[in-house]
Amino acid sequence: MPIIVDETSRTFTLHTDNTTYQMRVDEPGYLLHLYYGTRSEGTMDYLVTYADRSGLCVCPHDVHDRTYSLDVLPQEFPFDGAGDMRAPLLRVRDAAGVYGCDLRYARHEVRSGKYALPGLPAVYDEGEGDGAETLSVTLADPRLGLEVELLYGVMPYLDVICRAAIVRNAGEAALTIDRLQTACLDFTHGSFDVITFSGRHAMERRVDRHFVDHGSFHVGSRRGMSSGQYNPLMILCDRATTETSGRAWSMSFVWSGGFEAEVERCQYAQTRMQMGLADDRFSYPLAPGEELVAPEVIMSYSAHGLSALSQNLHRCIRTHVVRGTWRDRPRPVLLNSWEACYFDFTGDTLVDLAKKAAELGIEMLVMDDGWFGKRNDDFRALGDWYVNEEKLGGTLAELVDRVNALGLKFGIWVEPEMVSEDSDLYRAHPDWALAIPGKDPVLGRDQLVLDFSRKEVRDNIYEQLCAVFDQANIEYVKWDCNRNIVDLYSATATDQGKVLYDYTRGLYELLERLVQRYPHILFEGCSAGGCRFDAGMLYYTPQIWTSDNTDAVNRLAIQYGTSFGYPASTMGAHVSACPNEINWRTTPISARGTVALAGGGFGYELDLNDLPERACEHVKAQVALHREIEDVVREGRYFRLSGPADEVCAWEFVAEDGSKAVLGTVLLLIEGYGVARYVTPRGLTPGAFYRELTTGNVFAADALMDEGFPLPINAEPYMGRTYRFERL
Ligand code: GLA
Repeated sequence: MPIIVDETSRTFTLHTDNTTYQMRVDEPGYLLHLYYGTRSEGTMDYLVTYADRSGLCVCPHDVHDRTYSLDVLPQEFPFDGAGDMRAPLLRVRDAAGVYGCDLRYARHEVRSGKYALPGLPAVYDEGEGDGAETLSVTLADPRLGLEVELLYGVMPYLDVICRAAIVRNAGEAALTIDRLQTACLDFTHGSFDVITFSGRHAMERRVDRHFVDHGSFHVGSRRGMSSGQYNPLMILCDRATTETSGRAWSMSFVWSGGFEAEVERCQYAQTRMQMGLADDRFSYPLAPGEELVAPEVIMSYSAHGLSALSQNLHRCIRTHVVRGTWRDRPRPVLLNSWEACYFDFTGDTLVDLAKKAAELGIEMLVMDDGWFGKRNDDFRALGDWYVNEEKLGGTLAELVDRVNALGLKFGIWVEPEMVSEDSDLYRAHPDWALAIPGKDPVLGRDQLVLDFSRKEVRDNIYEQLCAVFDQANIEYVKWDCNRNIVDLYSATATDQGKVLYDYTRGLYELLERLVQRYPHILFEGCSAGGCRFDAGMLYYTPQIWTSDNTDAVNRLAIQYGTSFGYPASTMGAHVSACPNEINWRTTPISARGTVALAGGGFGYELDLNDLPERACEHVKAQVALHREIEDVVREGRYFRLSGPADEVCAWEFVAEDGSKAVLGTVLLLIEGYGVARYVTPRGLTPGAFYRELTTGNVFAADALMDEGFPLPINAEPYMGRTYRFERL
């Protein structure tokens, strides 16, 4: 049984295959956190210590014991009002505007299966075989009529524990929620590093690792979207933890709106890690009977370093967050029109691209931005989702039929959350954009954000999109989002503090309607590249365009950082032209291919008709290689062997049963008369022999994993190589 409740000691123990999580309701009724670590039996309440620390350490009135203070005790759901002065998960105001509550244990329940959160993305179970269970613990403050239901979803074989919380106004007067975090992990001792993922447009998710000293370290997004500046993924680890050893804990937010992630070291050298909704412009009124859901946080623990932690998250997201037809299927190799021709295309130029793509083995043509309304540049027409037949030289169906006749599937780009001031939609409904009356709206790429907290706005966009998707054989949709929310005013909201939260829920509602109506369509998320790459979006879009930056060297860093929390199967990765259009670097096509082949959403993003014949041969070979390795890349265990700051950046995918491995390498240090560089694979079957398929050379797995094997010396700058190994 994954969940064990000891009714006498009021202890809750949650077991996954390799981890244990434990908490206990103490005598005054507070829910204390005891343990999250290696799977263990027994009670861990000895980890919590009590001492008279000083009169300054506050204590609940009814406890009246100077050795008892919530300012010291490790907790499951710390809140504002009981004397814990560290960052709370919940801050609530009553109808008179007074802060503070006192939440104590009220009841609990164990349910079979993993909880779902209606209207929100969440890890799902696939029936009894998953062995998932849910623990619900309700805390209550009778004075306010406030209830908080804490949900723990235990996914045993994924080694993942999910948390969410439902805040209910079960009283008779209004309440306002001013801060709502989903989960925290309290550590009674230890010295830690925190790992976060920062970036910007075209340089997303670089790895930052900091020592957690006194004070608090915080990242988050105030942008209304999860953002490329900080990713909603945080890892805490022992200072000595490496890829292969040491303890590490992660939190990944299943939410695509603003967020907070914080780690705080307190006066007693205790550490609290937490994650939840952004406080910024958030203030959510709850009338009697209403509730507010704190979106899910996926937690995992590894006693064996960061690669193993990432593998837990990969498996969870790949098999229990991503849904639908495309979850377990090879994704089509696509050619995207954006970097090939930007806005400058006709139906005929697209067909010319498709012809060349078909010759090289590519399987799908994606018509990116520029096909609708008067969209010939990025100053207008967002919101006018009707086909520009004049530009295409015919109907969409005719174009798609021509492309299909060449043996290629057809995909299309949309940016449904946005509206241009110069659009028919904006002229008809100016109040549908988020804009503050009397204040000039802030522009981003000359566009405004539609008010997706309003149902009539979402309905209009839904109908427009369906009209497009229904008129031709559309098999892929790229869902873009190219600016953040600045002006926060919804013309119909009763309270503006609700709008950011309701916007994201509205986005999910629209996405859900579309994925249900078009189960055969492969949706790819995008936000100016990878500026909204989170587990929430992956519930609707099985893959996300990882970055607008397709330079092979920068992409190494971007995909490396992304790999900490997200599987390769979710990463859109394309080969583009050189010099690169973002940083003007020239890299050989071997490097661009090697890097793009490490993403499950493999494809091309360049004018194939401009490519020299030799490069076309490379493309053919890459497409063929992709077909051979794509199952291992999509489903295998992923190992970061070295990073983007090393001489060689190397990574590896190993099939779950160890029968195959794929190794990617890019040489980064370029010197005269080179030194031999070695790569050391991991995760192969000990005692077995493997054949490298290009050379036919046979290697003993143990020696390979000990000494590694040498890369070619004096190769081209930025040489990229993909090696395939098969167990004999
Ligand atoms: C964003 C995307 C690009 C492309 C353009 C089109 O920048 O990230 O891939 O689709 O929009 O305008």
